[in-house]
This record gives sequence, structure tokens and C-alpha cells, in this order.
Amino acid sequence: MKIAIIGAGNVGASIASLLLSKQMCDNIALIDINSNLAKAKAIDLSQMAIALSQSAKVVGGDDYKLLENFDIVIITAGVARKDGQSRSELAKINANIVVDASKKIAKFAPNSTIIVVTNPLDIMVYVAYKSSGFNKSKIIGMAGELDSARLKFSLQNYLGKDMKDSKSCVIGMHNDSMICLSSENLNSNEFENIKSQTINGGALIVKLMNTSAFYAPAAGVINICQALIYGNSKPLSCSVLDDNLVAFSRLVKLDKNGVKELLELNLEQKDREILDKSIDEFIININNLNLNGF
Ligand code: LMR
Repeated sequence: MKIAIIGAGNVGASIASLLLSKQMCDNIALIDINSNLAKAKAIDLSQMAIALSQSAKVVGGDDYKLLENFDIVIITAGVARKDGQSRSELAKINANIVVDASKKIAKFAPNSTIIVVTNPLDIMVYVAYKSSGFNKSKIIGMAGELDSARLKFSLQNYLGKDMKDSKSCVIGMHNDSMICLSSENLNSNEFENIKSQTINGGALIVKLMNTSAFYAPAAGVINICQALIYGNSKPLSCSVLDDNLVAFSRLVKLDKNGVKELLELNLEQKDREILDKSIDEFIININNLNLNGF
């Protein structure tokens, strides 16, 4: 299995480190416009592999030829938000980066599956789809797994019990209108509080360290890679495009070919209304990007 990561920053490097420590692939290519950064991290990671007695090969640089015929390509490149910014403020600048990356991925790894991590996530899933020309089943956005982990973290802190196997999850857009679905018995005040912590989970980290989270986002990507590599009957919350070409996180089943099945959304009326409103905003944002001009 050959996995490439575009963007050798905190998220990209954390993904590479997890892929190695979990022995999930034979080859990793780390690509960044800062070629020396990608090379340095590839050397560091190669030495990490040796120290762990593993034979995986890691290469780095700025040349997309490094990912020729790779199986999975993960786009993490882009600008991270600063304290006080919303993810959507990054749309224009990051769309340029994702368009460029997606076109090059299509050229050098035309049969790959793309995992998108760059924000604003759901919009970037659409951008990667449009500019790669790939089938929509080959574009998967990582957000729901991260937001679900944040929901479980908040529940765990509140209820004082282990939540890692809880069925609670987050779907919808990776912004303030994400939809928290809890399988726990909470009154509405308690749940509102948990929801607010979940929605603000990313912003809290940005506020504390003036850049965004990376360990949990990397773990969300690993869940997706595991499903793509080994096949996985467990539904994951991923941002995928539906038949109307709208992307948001929903429970899906993945296999080695990408998105296999979108599970039905069984939403309460108020959540359906939130989702419908955020779909309208998604469409406005996509139109504002004017992708034909790229
Ligand atoms: C996250 O939720 O951690 C990421 O989307 C990064 C961010 O800007 O919060």
C-alpha cells in the first residue's frame, strides 16, 4: 500500500507517524511546497521506521512525481485558521491550494482515492472533486470522525465513563452547524452544553496554541485509511458528495474502492432544518468560489 500526504505540517507529519507506527503501508510520500521541510521530515520518519524495526520507505520533496501510481493521497496542505477566524474565511486561499494539488494528483495517481483534510472541509471536498475529475466515490473528507471524537470526549468528561465505543456521532458540516447525535440519556440543557463544547472543540485548541489541532485530525484520517485498506463494515462519519454534489459528513461505509454506501439520515425535524440551512450556505459558498475561474 502506497500513501501520499500533501502538506508536511503538523497534520501531515502526524498522519505519517501514525501510518508507520501502525504498519499500515509500505511507502509514504510526503509532498510540500517547502521541499526541504518534506525531505527533512521524510528522513526523520525513515529513521523512526528503522528504530521501530520496520521496512516502510518514506520519501519527501515538492515533486508530485513522488506519488506516481500511489493508492491513497491525503490533502492536508493549506492555511490553518488563527484565533478569532472561522474556517470559512480560508475558502479562497485554500481552494487555490486544493485545486493545484488535485490536478496534480489526477495526473500522477489517477486511480487513487483522495482524503481531504484542508478547511473549510466540506467545501474543499467539492473543490477536490471538481478539479481532480475523479468519481465522487473517490473523494472523502475527514471531519465527522474528528467531531465525533470531540463529542465523545465531552460526554466522557461529563458522564465520567469510557465513551470510546459509544455510538454517539457527529454529522453535517464541519462548522458551527454540525449535528451532534448522542446515544446517551441527557436532558436538553446537558445536551446543549455538550453540543456547544463539541462545536467549539477546534476553536478552543486554536485559541490555546494559535494554530489548529493535529493529533485527533490525524487519527480521523487513520480511521478512513484503515477502512480503505482493510475494508470495514463499521460505518464512519465522513464528508462525501451526495447525488446533488453537496458534501457533508454522514455515516458511510468504505471499502478499497472508496465510498461504498451512504447510510440513510434519520434526523429529527430540527436537525433536518439545520442541515438544510447549511446545505443552502454550502451552495452559496461554492458559487462564490467561482471554480471555473481557477
Ligand atoms: C479542527 O476542527 O481541529 C480543524 O478543522 C482545524 C480548525 O480550524 O479548527
